[in-house]
Amino acid sequence: MIAMPPLVSLRSVSRTYRTGAVAVAAVRDVSFDIEHGEIVAIMGPSGSGKSTLMNMIGLLDSPSEGAIYLDGMDVAHLPEDQRSGLRAQKIGFVFQSYNLLARHNAIENVALPLVYCGLGWKERMSRAARSLEAVGMLHRAQHFPKQLSGGEQQRVAIARALVASPSIVLADEPTGALDSRTGADVLALFCALNRGGQTVLMITHDPRVAAHCSRTVRLQDGQVVADQVHPPAAPKRVMAL
Ligand SMILES: Nc1ncnc2c1ncn2[C@@H]1O[C@H](COP(=O)(O)OP(=O)(O)OP(=O)(O)O)[C@@H](O)[C@H]1O
Ligand SMILES: [Mg+2]
Repeated sequence: MIAMPPLVSLRSVSRTYRTGAVAVAAVRDVSFDIEHGEIVAIMGPSGSGKSTLMNMIGLLDSPSEGAIYLDGMDVAHLPEDQRSGLRAQKIGFVFQSYNLLARHNAIENVALPLVYCGLGWKERMSRAARSLEAVGMLHRAQHFPKQLSGGEQQRVAIARALVASPSIVLADEPTGALDSRTGADVLALFCALNRGGQTVLMITHDPRVAAHCSRTVRLQDGQVVADQVHPPAAPKRVMAL
Protein backbone atom coordinates (compact mmCIF):
# COMPACT_ATOMS: atom_id res chain seq x y z
CA MET A 1 0.00 0.00 0.00
CA ILE A 2 1.25 3.51 -0.79
CA ALA A 3 1.28 5.74 2.30
CA MET A 4 -0.78 8.92 1.99
CA PRO A 5 1.40 12.06 2.17
CA PRO A 6 0.69 14.51 5.01
CA LEU A 7 -1.99 17.06 4.20
CA VAL A 8 0.50 19.88 4.86
CA SER A 9 4.27 19.60 4.93
CA LEU A 10 6.52 22.55 5.79
CA ARG A 11 10.22 22.11 5.13
CA SER A 12 12.66 24.76 6.41
CA VAL A 13 10.15 27.50 5.65
CA SER A 14 11.27 31.10 6.19
CA ARG A 15 9.55 34.36 5.37
CA THR A 16 11.37 37.67 5.49
CA TYR A 17 9.50 40.93 4.96
CA ARG A 18 11.57 43.69 3.41
CA THR A 19 10.41 47.26 3.94
CA GLY A 20 12.98 49.65 2.53
CA ALA A 21 16.28 48.88 4.24
CA VAL A 22 14.63 46.96 7.08
CA ALA A 23 14.23 43.18 6.91
CA VAL A 24 11.95 41.37 9.37
CA ALA A 25 12.47 37.61 9.67
CA ALA A 26 8.81 36.81 10.52
CA VAL A 27 9.11 33.00 10.12
CA ARG A 28 12.46 31.24 10.45
CA ASP A 29 13.29 27.70 9.40
CA VAL A 30 9.96 26.10 10.32
CA SER A 31 9.39 22.41 9.56
CA PHE A 32 6.40 20.31 10.58
CA ASP A 33 3.61 18.24 9.07
CA ILE A 34 -0.16 18.33 9.55
CA GLU A 35 -1.91 15.01 9.01
CA HIS A 36 -5.44 14.52 7.73
CA GLY A 37 -7.93 14.72 10.61
CA GLU A 38 -5.82 16.73 13.06
CA ILE A 39 -7.03 19.81 14.95
CA VAL A 40 -3.93 21.89 15.63
CA ALA A 41 -3.57 25.07 17.70
CA ILE A 42 -0.85 27.58 16.88
CA MET A 43 0.14 29.71 19.87
CA GLY A 44 2.78 32.32 20.50
CA PRO A 45 3.21 35.97 21.46
CA SER A 46 2.04 38.81 19.24
CA GLY A 47 4.45 39.22 16.33
CA SER A 48 5.81 35.66 16.60
CA GLY A 49 4.81 34.86 13.00
CA LYS A 50 1.56 32.92 13.47
CA SER A 51 -0.47 34.74 10.81
CA THR A 52 2.50 34.85 8.43
CA LEU A 53 2.81 31.07 8.72
CA MET A 54 -0.92 30.52 8.26
CA ASN A 55 -1.01 32.78 5.20
CA MET A 56 1.71 30.68 3.57
CA ILE A 57 -0.12 27.42 4.32
CA GLY A 58 -3.26 29.03 2.86
CA LEU A 59 -1.42 30.03 -0.33
CA LEU A 60 -1.98 33.73 0.32
CA ASP A 61 1.78 34.26 0.60
CA SER A 62 4.95 32.46 -0.48
CA PRO A 63 7.99 31.55 1.60
CA SER A 64 11.27 33.41 1.03
CA GLU A 65 13.00 30.06 1.51
CA GLY A 66 11.95 26.45 1.98
CA ALA A 67 9.19 24.25 0.61
CA ILE A 68 5.47 23.77 1.31
CA TYR A 69 3.64 20.65 0.15
CA LEU A 70 -0.14 20.24 0.09
CA ASP A 71 -1.15 16.60 -0.33
CA GLY A 72 2.39 15.96 -1.54
CA MET A 73 2.34 18.72 -4.17
CA ASP A 74 4.99 21.44 -4.02
CA VAL A 75 2.93 24.64 -3.86
CA ALA A 76 5.38 27.25 -2.58
CA HIS A 77 6.03 28.98 -5.87
CA LEU A 78 3.14 28.13 -8.18
CA PRO A 79 1.83 30.90 -10.46
CA GLU A 80 -1.04 32.90 -8.96
CA ASP A 81 -3.81 31.38 -11.12
CA GLN A 82 -2.89 27.87 -9.94
CA ARG A 83 -2.58 29.07 -6.34
CA SER A 84 -6.05 30.64 -6.38
CA GLY A 85 -7.48 27.47 -7.95
CA LEU A 86 -5.95 25.30 -5.23
CA ARG A 87 -7.01 27.77 -2.55
CA ALA A 88 -10.65 27.59 -3.68
CA GLN A 89 -10.52 23.80 -3.79
CA LYS A 90 -8.53 22.93 -0.66
CA ILE A 91 -8.55 25.80 1.85
CA GLY A 92 -11.30 27.36 3.98
CA PHE A 93 -10.51 30.59 5.86
CA VAL A 94 -12.02 31.94 9.07
CA PHE A 95 -10.88 35.29 10.50
CA GLN A 96 -11.26 37.00 13.86
CA SER A 97 -13.38 39.76 12.30
CA TYR A 98 -15.64 37.37 10.28
CA ASN A 99 -15.06 39.31 7.01
CA LEU A 100 -18.60 38.84 5.70
CA LEU A 101 -19.76 41.11 2.87
CA ALA A 102 -22.20 43.63 4.35
CA ARG A 103 -24.35 43.98 1.21
CA HIS A 104 -24.99 40.24 0.91
CA ASN A 105 -27.19 38.12 3.12
CA ALA A 106 -25.93 35.04 4.98
CA ILE A 107 -26.65 32.46 2.29
CA GLU A 108 -25.12 34.65 -0.44
CA ASN A 109 -21.99 35.11 1.67
CA VAL A 110 -21.72 31.36 2.18
CA ALA A 111 -22.25 30.64 -1.53
CA LEU A 112 -19.56 33.09 -2.64
CA PRO A 113 -16.55 30.70 -2.76
CA LEU A 114 -18.53 28.39 -5.07
CA VAL A 115 -18.45 30.99 -7.85
CA TYR A 116 -14.90 29.73 -8.52
CA CYS A 117 -16.06 26.11 -8.76
CA GLY A 118 -18.08 26.61 -11.95
CA LEU A 119 -21.42 25.58 -10.40
CA GLY A 120 -24.80 27.00 -11.41
CA TRP A 121 -26.79 29.33 -9.11
CA LYS A 122 -29.26 26.66 -7.93
CA GLU A 123 -26.52 24.21 -6.97
CA ARG A 124 -24.57 26.99 -5.21
CA MET A 125 -27.64 27.93 -3.16
CA SER A 126 -28.41 24.35 -2.22
CA ARG A 127 -24.82 23.71 -1.09
CA ALA A 128 -24.77 26.98 0.84
CA ALA A 129 -28.02 25.98 2.58
CA ARG A 130 -26.50 22.64 3.59
CA SER A 131 -23.42 24.40 4.93
CA LEU A 132 -25.55 26.86 6.93
CA GLU A 133 -27.49 23.92 8.32
CA ALA A 134 -24.25 22.24 9.41
CA VAL A 135 -23.43 25.24 11.62
CA GLY A 136 -26.99 25.69 12.91
CA MET A 137 -27.64 28.91 10.98
CA LEU A 138 -30.11 27.96 8.25
CA HIS A 139 -32.86 29.90 10.06
CA ARG A 140 -30.83 33.09 9.47
CA ALA A 141 -30.16 32.50 5.76
CA GLN A 142 -31.82 35.75 4.64
CA HIS A 143 -30.30 37.94 7.34
CA PHE A 144 -27.60 40.48 6.53
CA PRO A 145 -24.39 40.52 8.62
CA LYS A 146 -25.43 43.60 10.63
CA GLN A 147 -28.63 41.79 11.64
CA LEU A 148 -26.59 38.96 13.22
CA SER A 149 -24.72 38.74 16.53
CA GLY A 150 -20.94 38.29 16.51
CA GLY A 151 -21.21 34.59 17.26
CA GLU A 152 -23.83 34.15 14.51
CA GLN A 153 -21.64 36.03 12.02
CA GLN A 154 -18.73 33.77 12.89
CA ARG A 155 -20.87 30.68 12.36
CA VAL A 156 -21.88 32.02 8.92
CA ALA A 157 -18.19 32.65 8.20
CA ILE A 158 -17.46 29.04 9.19
CA ALA A 159 -20.24 27.85 6.86
CA ARG A 160 -18.58 29.87 4.09
CA ALA A 161 -15.21 28.26 4.90
CA LEU A 162 -16.79 24.79 4.69
CA VAL A 163 -18.96 25.22 1.62
CA ALA A 164 -16.46 23.94 -0.95
CA SER A 165 -15.53 20.92 1.25
CA PRO A 166 -11.94 22.09 1.82
CA SER A 167 -9.12 19.76 2.88
CA ILE A 168 -8.23 22.11 5.73
CA VAL A 169 -9.88 25.00 7.56
CA LEU A 170 -7.47 27.75 8.64
CA ALA A 171 -8.78 29.96 11.43
CA ASP A 172 -6.89 33.05 12.65
CA GLU A 173 -8.10 33.74 16.22
CA PRO A 174 -11.69 32.72 15.41
CA THR A 175 -12.86 33.26 18.99
CA GLY A 176 -10.76 36.38 19.61
CA ALA A 177 -13.60 38.89 19.16
CA LEU A 178 -16.27 36.87 21.01
CA ASP A 179 -17.29 36.81 24.66
CA SER A 180 -16.24 33.65 26.46
CA ARG A 181 -19.58 31.85 26.19
CA THR A 182 -20.03 32.57 22.47
CA GLY A 183 -16.36 31.74 21.90
CA ALA A 184 -16.94 28.39 23.62
CA ASP A 185 -19.84 27.68 21.24
CA VAL A 186 -17.71 28.49 18.20
CA LEU A 187 -14.90 26.34 19.56
CA ALA A 188 -17.35 23.49 20.17
CA LEU A 189 -18.42 23.83 16.54
CA PHE A 190 -14.83 23.50 15.29
CA CYS A 191 -14.34 20.45 17.55
CA ALA A 192 -17.56 18.85 16.24
CA LEU A 193 -16.45 19.46 12.65
CA ASN A 194 -13.09 17.90 13.46
CA ARG A 195 -14.75 14.84 14.99
CA GLY A 196 -16.55 14.55 11.64
CA GLY A 197 -13.15 14.35 9.93
CA GLN A 198 -12.43 18.01 9.08
CA THR A 199 -8.76 19.01 9.48
CA VAL A 200 -8.44 22.34 11.33
CA LEU A 201 -5.53 24.68 12.03
CA MET A 202 -6.38 27.41 14.50
CA ILE A 203 -4.38 30.36 15.82
CA THR A 204 -5.28 31.26 19.38
CA HIS A 205 -3.93 33.26 22.32
CA ASP A 206 -6.17 31.33 24.72
CA PRO A 207 -4.70 28.19 26.34
CA ARG A 208 -8.27 26.99 27.08
CA VAL A 209 -8.97 27.02 23.34
CA ALA A 210 -5.72 25.19 22.57
CA ALA A 211 -6.61 22.57 25.21
CA HIS A 212 -9.53 21.47 23.00
CA CYS A 213 -7.20 20.77 20.09
CA SER A 214 -5.22 17.54 19.67
CA ARG A 215 -1.89 19.30 19.23
CA THR A 216 -0.29 22.64 20.05
CA VAL A 217 2.54 24.21 18.06
CA ARG A 218 4.23 27.16 19.78
CA LEU A 219 6.05 29.89 17.90
CA GLN A 220 8.49 32.42 19.29
CA ASP A 221 10.40 34.92 17.18
CA GLY A 222 9.32 33.06 14.05
CA GLN A 223 10.56 29.67 15.22
CA VAL A 224 8.82 26.57 16.55
CA VAL A 225 9.76 26.25 20.22
CA ALA A 226 7.34 23.44 21.14
CA ASP A 227 5.13 20.96 19.28
CA GLN A 228 3.01 18.81 21.58
CA VAL A 229 0.35 16.21 20.85
CA HIS A 230 -2.21 16.03 23.67
CA PRO A 231 -5.64 14.53 24.22
CA PRO A 232 -8.29 17.21 23.50
CA ALA A 233 -10.24 18.42 26.54
CA ALA A 234 -13.86 17.27 26.64
CA PRO A 235 -16.29 19.82 25.14
CA LYS A 236 -17.83 22.10 27.80
CA ARG A 237 -20.88 23.17 25.86
CA VAL A 238 -22.51 21.19 23.13
CA MET A 239 -23.89 23.30 20.32
CA ALA A 240 -27.55 22.94 19.53
CA LEU A 241 -27.07 22.11 15.84
N1 LIG B 1 3.18 42.80 5.47
C1 LIG B 1 4.18 42.93 6.35
N2 LIG B 1 5.24 43.72 6.09
C2 LIG B 1 6.26 43.84 6.97
N3 LIG B 1 6.32 43.20 8.15
C3 LIG B 1 5.28 42.40 8.47
C4 LIG B 1 4.15 42.22 7.60
N4 LIG B 1 3.28 41.38 8.18
C5 LIG B 1 3.83 41.04 9.36
N5 LIG B 1 5.03 41.63 9.54
C6 LIG B 1 5.93 41.47 10.71
O1 LIG B 1 6.22 40.09 10.83
C7 LIG B 1 6.21 39.69 12.20
C8 LIG B 1 5.19 38.55 12.38
O2 LIG B 1 3.89 39.06 12.16
P1 LIG B 1 2.57 38.16 12.26
O3 LIG B 1 1.44 39.01 11.81
O4 LIG B 1 2.80 36.89 11.53
O5 LIG B 1 2.52 37.88 13.82
P2 LIG B 1 1.38 37.15 14.68
O6 LIG B 1 2.07 36.08 15.48
O7 LIG B 1 0.25 36.76 13.82
O8 LIG B 1 0.95 38.33 15.70
P3 LIG B 1 -0.50 38.68 16.34
O9 LIG B 1 -0.71 37.70 17.47
O10 LIG B 1 -0.33 40.07 16.85
O11 LIG B 1 -1.54 38.56 15.25
C9 LIG B 1 5.89 40.93 13.00
O12 LIG B 1 7.12 41.45 13.48
C10 LIG B 1 5.26 41.86 12.01
O13 LIG B 1 5.53 43.21 12.32
MG1 LIG C 1 -1.76 37.35 13.69
